[in-house]
Amino acid sequence: MTTQAPAGYTYGSTPPSPVSLEELAKLEASVLFTAEDREALRMAGDVLEGQVEDVLDVWYGFVAAHPHLAAYFSTPDGTLLEDYLTRVRGRFGQWILDTCRRPHDQEWLSYAHEIGLRHTHEKKNQTDDAPSVPHIPLRYMVAFIYPITATMRPFLAKKGHGEADVERMYQAWFKSVTLQVILWLRPYSPDRW
Ligand code: HEM
Repeated sequence: MTTQAPAGYTYGSTPPSPVSLEELAKLEASVLFTAEDREALRMAGDVLEGQVEDVLDVWYGFVAAHPHLAAYFSTPDGTLLEDYLTRVRGRFGQWILDTCRRPHDQEWLSYAHEIGLRHTHEKKNQTDDAPSVPHIPLRYMVAFIYPITATMRPFLAKKGHGEADVERMYQAWFKSVTLQVILWLRPYSPDRW
């Protein structure tokens, strides 16, 4: 973990998730997330540790290249909010390492719910007091699973691991992103989740 917490990062002090650990275990089984994936993510954490800023450059470049996505870091009239982008970037970087290293316990589950809320009308903009648009549509949350996964592969391969290990880390990352987006979607539709 980084020594200094990013601005607005409240891991460990968010209200409990409405999702139970039993429900989480069933979801893990549903995305085929196993103890081997946990191990592979741990390895990925070591591989990615020095590359977080480079990963973020790729992801932010992807968002910046698509005005319909950059709009969610902008004011309603389309002015990009640099301070907001920078503050969120710090938490995003922390999330990469948390995804690799944090155990899937009650605190992790609760922060997953918080991240979901922060993408919706309920909590978007609050953490950074940002004058941005109020909500990110559910459809883009699901769409992002692909770029957030596919763009990771070259970084996982950069530290000289064999193809089998890179593939293991990649599959574990894919499963974890899928799992987390599922948890983040709960605030979008609690009664249908
Ligand atoms: C916040 C990841 C989808 C825009 C965040 C954070 C993370 C993250 C880790 C910081 C959470 C924290 O506060 O600690 C992801 C992942 C996604 C996804 C993995 C899907 C796989 C999207 C989409 C957009 C978006 C589709 C729209 C372009 C934002 C914004 C914030 C944010 C604006 C700041 C929210 C706030 O005001 O607190 N995201 N995100 N995200 N994300 Fe996403």
